[in-house]
Amino acid sequence: MPKFYLTTPLYYVNARPHVGHTYSTIVADTIARYKRMMGYEVCFLTGTDEHGEHVGRAARGAGRDPQSFVDEIAQDYKRVWDRLDLRYDQFIRTTESRHKAAVRKIFRAVQKAGYIYEGTYIGQYCVNCELYVTDPTAEGNCPNCGRPPESVEEENYFFKLSAFQEPLLEHYRTHPEFIQPEGRRNEVEAFVRGGLRDLSISRTRFRWGIPVPEAEDHVFYVWFDALTGYISGIGYGSVDAEAAAFDRFWPADLQLVGKEIVRFHAVYWPAFLLAAGLPLPRTIYAHGWWLFQQDKMSKSRGNIVRPEPIAEVIGVDGLRYFLLREMVFGQDANFSYDALVTRYNSDLANDYGNLAARTLAMIERYFQGAIPQPAAPRMKGEEAVAEAAERAIGGFRTAFDRYDFSRGLEAVWELVASVNKYLVQTEPWRVAEEGGRRERLGTILWTAAEGLRVATALLHPVIPDGTERVWQQLAQKKRLGEYELAQLCWGQLGAGTRIGKLEAIYPRVEKELAIQKMVEREANLGQSAVGASKGGKTVSNNPSVISMEEFAKVDMRVGEVRAAERVPGADKLLKLRVDIGGEERQIVAGIAEVYAPQQLVGKKIVVVVNLQPRKIRGVESQGMLVAATVGEAGKPVIATFTEDVPAGARLK
Ligand code: MSP
Repeated sequence: MPKFYLTTPLYYVNARPHVGHTYSTIVADTIARYKRMMGYEVCFLTGTDEHGEHVGRAARGAGRDPQSFVDEIAQDYKRVWDRLDLRYDQFIRTTESRHKAAVRKIFRAVQKAGYIYEGTYIGQYCVNCELYVTDPTAEGNCPNCGRPPESVEEENYFFKLSAFQEPLLEHYRTHPEFIQPEGRRNEVEAFVRGGLRDLSISRTRFRWGIPVPEAEDHVFYVWFDALTGYISGIGYGSVDAEAAAFDRFWPADLQLVGKEIVRFHAVYWPAFLLAAGLPLPRTIYAHGWWLFQQDKMSKSRGNIVRPEPIAEVIGVDGLRYFLLREMVFGQDANFSYDALVTRYNSDLANDYGNLAARTLAMIERYFQGAIPQPAAPRMKGEEAVAEAAERAIGGFRTAFDRYDFSRGLEAVWELVASVNKYLVQTEPWRVAEEGGRRERLGTILWTAAEGLRVATALLHPVIPDGTERVWQQLAQKKRLGEYELAQLCWGQLGAGTRIGKLEAIYPRVEKELAIQKMVEREANLGQSAVGASKGGKTVSNNPSVISMEEFAKVDMRVGEVRAAERVPGADKLLKLRVDIGGEERQIVAGIAEVYAPQQLVGKKIVVVVNLQPRKIRGVESQGMLVAATVGEAGKPVIATFTEDVPAGARLK
């Protein structure tokens, strides 16, 4: 059996899973199901990235000890993935001992090969991205997230990344499939060609990490630690039988990542592997971002949408189908509840769901539930459906082999449309009423059922739940998940078998109501502050009254002022650096006439964290400080707390 090993990124546990993380995991799950059906022995790994400064600060911000904090969120990831029926084979947490052993092992291998030395790191570091900023933006900010980096100076262990510039370029040249899509490959190549500096791979500024062997005051740089998860999760570093999985599955066939972390995966990761003498993964595929309200969906921007409310209202299949159909793999796409429900109703409820319902209902009605023989001569209509089915099989497989999911789904939808058109044209209900043309009626319904069967088999990796149910209704023996897709072709539907119990799949939903339900559930989940593009309307008639739902959209957090300074040339403005719980924001506030900068440092204040960032006198403000305006002059008085509260706590 050929093997296929694929991975998702290991998600940071500073935030609970949202639709962005869910997307990567759903894509991986879809590919895993597809490959299993194509006869591969699949290993699908996902997991959580739990160490580092970013996560450590988030735990502190929540007033928690790091281990219990990460335990809770890692659990949340598992719970949500299970709720969504995402069938990973391995879930690796970077705080597990099997992982720690693997990190020490790869470090020793790299060290033994002569690629580690001690030195002093002086430079800029972005804690949010856990990135050494060697190529800042024109304003000196992180090239990834645009936030100002922090100046760092410390004694570190260094990895000789510079030694791998040529080997990496050579690998990109000889393995064009290594980084995909092509645009990303060009970017990475340009970055590497620009020169690689050695990389600091240990930290002494904080403790939340894996200690470096024989230098316990150092912990590993979180990316050195986390990337190793791709091999620790399949047994690298284990001594027992688990190690066999590593020999079987490594190198990975596909590593899925979001485009913002391609550099870590296509430069650092292969360099670490080369240094340790390990083979490189076949393909790193960087996909685009889900945008919501014009911006990347992310916790720090406060514009996230959670998967659970969607699954509750339109089902897991509805969510999967939308995500795979709507995004051209590799490019960005906009998430909107409106588009989600529209797609569900038109494609799943109408096109596919109705095809299944009416075909099966007619077989039940006119043939007492036994699949009829296609005994009448095959005519043009039948030819057209058969051809559409063969085209769909070919088109789908070619597209899925290239990870072009939207195109693959389009290919199947052409088949679904062709069968629906065939039914409209042949009007089996009329043939039945007219009577006397049993063979013709049988042929029409067999043809429709066979078209339905082919579409159902192909769609299984994407919409596993509904297709499994249709498959049972079509009285197929094996479970669809175990069906061998490679043998699928037109004409295999056996006549005479009795179909299963009829059951509706993908019921149509009323759009506004469905949106409202999702938005309400999202608001009830808390912490997410979501605004629906449509449908989050207030129910009250009094315009000065807002609903809880609307209030819940405003995300106010406790912030601790880390630094404050005047904005040159603007008498009223102060620029603050505020810790909002594991994350720093730059806030510009018109309070300079009342508060001196040093008076504010260390103060706990209230910050609205999900406002669209805006520029005030050319300085970006990533949120708003809450203050009372007092007296005629509107003197600002900052809102603060009577008791100590952790940064990041939410106000409601
Ligand atoms: N911990 C690192 C990865 C380490 S891998 C060894 C990390 N974690 S993360 O929690 O920030 O997750 C990032 C990944 O989640 C992205 O690379 C992408 O796969 C997915 N997404 C997060 N937000 C997303 C969107 N808005 N849109 C699409 N995918 C997104 O980076």
